[in-house]
Amino acid sequence: MEDIIGSLVDKIKKRQAYISVIGLGYVGLPLIKVFLNKGFRVLGFDVDQKKVESLNSGISYIRHVTAEDLKTFLERNKFHATTNAAELTEADVILICVPTPLDSHWNPDLSFVLNTTQVIANNMRRGQLIVLESTTYPGTTEEEMLPILESKGFKVGKDFLLAYSPERENPGDKEFTTSKIPKVVGGVTSRCLKTAKTLYDQIVVQTIPVSSPRAAEATKLLENIFRSVNIALVNELKIIFDRMDIDIWEVIEAASSKPFGFMRFSPGPGYGGHCIPVDPFYLSWKAKEVDYPTRFIELAGQINTQLPYYVIEKTIEGLSQQNKSLGNARVLILGVAYKKDVDDQRESPALKIINLLQKRNAKVDYNDPFVPRLMGYREYPEMKLKSVPLSVTQLKKYDAVIIATDHSDYDFEWIADNSRLIIDTRNAVKKKRKNVVKA
Ligand SMILES: NC(=O)c1ccc[n+]([C@@H]2O[C@H](COP(=O)([O-])OP(=O)(O)OC[C@H]3O[C@@H](n4cnc5c(N)ncnc54)[C@H](O)[C@@H]3O)[C@@H](O)[C@H]2O)c1
Repeated sequence: MEDIIGSLVDKIKKRQAYISVIGLGYVGLPLIKVFLNKGFRVLGFDVDQKKVESLNSGISYIRHVTAEDLKTFLERNKFHATTNAAELTEADVILICVPTPLDSHWNPDLSFVLNTTQVIANNMRRGQLIVLESTTYPGTTEEEMLPILESKGFKVGKDFLLAYSPERENPGDKEFTTSKIPKVVGGVTSRCLKTAKTLYDQIVVQTIPVSSPRAAEATKLLENIFRSVNIALVNELKIIFDRMDIDIWEVIEAASSKPFGFMRFSPGPGYGGHCIPVDPFYLSWKAKEVDYPTRFIELAGQINTQLPYYVIEKTIEGLSQQNKSLGNARVLILGVAYKKDVDDQRESPALKIINLLQKRNAKVDYNDPFVPRLMGYREYPEMKLKSVPLSVTQLKKYDAVIIATDHSDYDFEWIADNSRLIIDTRNAVKKKRKNVVKA
């Protein structure tokens, strides 16, 4: 095996290793782009036939991987996508970027990772490096994946290599693109670690080795729990300060002048995306094994998921000052993506706000330059709306406009000039105005 590992490391350094990425979504596709840009040949594998066909015909469905990017590599035979798992046998490296959601009882749903691991085991050959990148609880790589991969008689560290390296993709971030974000890596054996580190050294600014896959899995959870807890903290302070007639945004701005010991987090209408609302609960579940309740995680989750109700409360207050009730109001939501300048609606608080407004009989429309059609995502499959155009005539139709996501394309002062009432959850309107309620 020494030779097989030696030759894999050599192939990686010469950028001749054949890379495969499983799961061609928000994480997998940008990762493929980086490997292609660094000169590797890449295979994309997904169970979604439509995505595979789309990529093979040069059409991207993710903003920051363009058709131009794809076309060049398809023409040079450097990339193709497939649903045929047998092709994975040819790959030297297999990177796994499949979803890790929660099930309906808020327990980790590892089925995507486990199914993928089984598919790899069925098509494995000696000398392959397998790395899980999906966010998950400590122990997944060694306790869940390793037994499946070794079930066919191959031995880790001898016949194949296994590591965990969390993806830190930040969609929409123009400064920290995939290759500019350092990557943490933990290997099952020292050979696994060395080989995985060599791989990531080719594509990112810095690779940080840790002692085990468990440490790497825990690192990713710490990062996301840190965000979830701090977002909850500023959101709770927002509500308290509002009752004291103190503007949280002014306070955050002032506190941010402290050059040490403070990190800025922004309040909002709740939290969204596939990561922050979901990943912390992977640890809550696992922590039960060691008989410890994850109180910070639970509390942060409770506060953040209640935020849409606060926005509704503020909308009712604002409307009542204009002698209007929510039940016969027309409301426009600005921005339904979970954050600025992306098209991702997963777990977006805007969807919950729309749902709560509709339940209270308000008539709701939305505008989002990134989301022409709202599909309601997982929780609200019946929510099918089309983005309405933004014009003075249109704005004047609404009793309230809720700014849920502050996309850069919006001119908020113009929007405020032409709206009766604004409920601003992002501090997007800077000028002090009578028709703006901060929420
Ligand atoms: N989106 C982010 O910003 C982000 C950031 C860091 C980490 N992550 C983590 O990365 C992982 C992937 O997230 P994502 O946002 O890219 O998800 P995604 O839903 O955009 O993409 C996942 C892809 O995997 C495919 N897939 C599902 N089951 C499969 C299987 N058995 N075999 C092959 N393909 C399969 C799906 O069809 C889909 O194309 C998750 O664990 C997530 O927590 C996401």
